[in-house]
Amino acid sequence: MGEHHRDGGLVIAIDGPSGSGKSSTSRGVANARGLRYLDTGAMYRAMTWWMLRHDVDTGDPVAVAKHVPEPVITVGTDPSAPSIEVDGVDVSTEIRGEEVTGHVSAVSAVPEIRARMLADQRAIITLAGRETGGIVVEGRDITTVVAPDAPVKVFLTASQEARANRRSAEVEGSDVSATLESLTRRDTLDSSRATSPLRQTKDAVELDTTGLTLPEVIDHIVRLAEQAEQSSPTG
Ligand code: DC
Repeated sequence: MGEHHRDGGLVIAIDGPSGSGKSSTSRGVANARGLRYLDTGAMYRAMTWWMLRHDVDTGDPVAVAKHVPEPVITVGTDPSAPSIEVDGVDVSTEIRGEEVTGHVSAVSAVPEIRARMLADQRAIITLAGRETGGIVVEGRDITTVVAPDAPVKVFLTASQEARANRRSAEVEGSDVSATLESLTRRDTLDSSRATSPLRQTKDAVELDTTGLTLPEVIDHIVRLAEQAEQSSPTG
């Protein structure tokens, strides 16, 4: 039984590499259970978008760290219409482009960036717990750092080929082998950085989505949530 669970609302934490199906799965679970939805990757992408827009050298961690408090990031957590704004500008499309994707691993490896994101994300989780039934949070360090006490923790995986195919289908005009290359590079950076790297904890349930349909994956996690609630009736 986790602290977030007791204090109000269910927290479902979902981690995994790019293209493992985190976003569609997390939104589906949130819709099925009437929960909010937080895409933490979008927040790192939004920080990266701001750095690029302000000509900050993303390869220089000291320069990036200096600007950490400046971007005003507003996240909408409706799973049917998630939104993200930076300084009042809707960046939901631009943050998925090649430029941001190429720089996001460097920006998200900066410890000061992660400290700010952690605080922002915990505030969003607390608010969702207080005002709604809870939240599904997806990212790379949700089960390990952001919400280690979440009663439901899932680590999604999929074969490299399946992940590259999915990511490529999401971005119009992209090619699968280039997507595979960029995805592998990003996974290596995200898993090897010093501060909160992507890693699987022992108590997260691993779910390989390669041979599963989206409804099957969603259903599996909804069941885990039901089990968690049954074993924690006071939550
Ligand atoms: O999930 P995504 O591909 O949109 O995430 C973009 C990048 O953000 C990813 O390469 C690593 C980083 N990220 C992170 O470091 N921690 C998170 N909780 C979520 C994303």
